[in-house]
Amino acid sequence: MIKVLVTGAAGQVGQDLMDVLAGRTPPGGDSDFQPDGQAIGLDEFSVMGLTHHDLDITDAQAVRRTVGMVRPDIIIHLAAYTAVDKAESDVEACFAVNEAGTGNLSDAAFEFGARFIAVSTDYVYDGRKGDTYVETDPTNPIGVYGRSKLAGELRCRPQDTIIRTSWVMGLRGRNVLHVIADRVARNEPVRFVTDQVGTPTFSADLARALATFARQPLGGIWHVANRGTTSWYSVAETAARLFGAPDDFVTPIVTEELSPAPAATRPARSDLSTRKWESAGFQPMPEWTAALSRFVADRN
Ligand SMILES: NC(=O)c1ccc[n+]([C@@H]2O[C@H](COP(=O)([O-])OP(=O)(O)OC[C@H]3O[C@@H](n4cnc5c(N)ncnc54)[C@H](OP(=O)(O)O)[C@@H]3O)[C@@H](O)[C@H]2O)c1
Repeated sequence: MIKVLVTGAAGQVGQDLMDVLAGRTPPGGDSDFQPDGQAIGLDEFSVMGLTHHDLDITDAQAVRRTVGMVRPDIIIHLAAYTAVDKAESDVEACFAVNEAGTGNLSDAAFEFGARFIAVSTDYVYDGRKGDTYVETDPTNPIGVYGRSKLAGELRCRPQDTIIRTSWVMGLRGRNVLHVIADRVARNEPVRFVTDQVGTPTFSADLARALATFARQPLGGIWHVANRGTTSWYSVAETAARLFGAPDDFVTPIVTEELSPAPAATRPARSDLSTRKWESAGFQPMPEWTAALSRFVADRN
């Protein structure tokens, strides 16, 4: 059995990853999506999932003690400060988790001989490329959250695995799809921006991809996202329709029209190419529209 330690286990992706590593398909998942061609065995992984309550990753001594006690083969690191707008005025706390916390875990993994897999974000890019990002593109984060996540990446070692993902949504997470479903139920139309473009990623599919990296000793930087470049308006419009909303329920706006203006500036276009993933021989990530349909079906 491969012994895996998961941080952020109670978070959006963490809950889905705990299911996947136990051989279950998370809600909103696709049991046919087996990127490396083989289902996860019920006894393949022995998993310890740590919540914030169990371990504060900013505490270097506690991290070292825990990893030394558990002696995992692999650490999959999902714990993060993810409040993108709040981070703009809470810089120190954000960096403590995303930079120092990630460094603490990479250090402990190295000391105790575990592989280290850390999840990062499309917000390490500035969004000005005007095309899909590949792993070798220069980084240039434009907000505190993105800067802290990049600082965390830089605290990792060359042999560590860094998975950059984007626009993550899971059935058990706090995300925009639940807001849209509730607004449809109350018949309260919504407004979404057309000028932020990216690649939506459903946490059930991301979790299954992460399990693939737990099986394969692939280091370096990888993009993992559902396939298809789109805008938040298009995500909202497609979701609202699937939730049964009437036509014109979602009004297209541009970022400048958001009121109040969000504290953090987001990249205008940060869609991630998964060509490297496909070139490694893995089944292509599902299209975001197919993943959204599963999300809606399971939520309903
Ligand atoms: N959500 C997205 O759109 C998105 C996009 C790109 C990349 N990512 C990355 O994907 C990963 C998983 O994200 P997610 O959506 O699952 O986020 P999430 O739902 O916010 O989960 C993050 C978890 O980390 C925990 N945490 C925060 N501070 C901690 C600390 N000091 N010590 C230990 N645990 C701590 C949180 O616990 P508490 O809530 O109890 O504090 C929470 O359970 C993160 O690395 C994130 O940066 C997310």
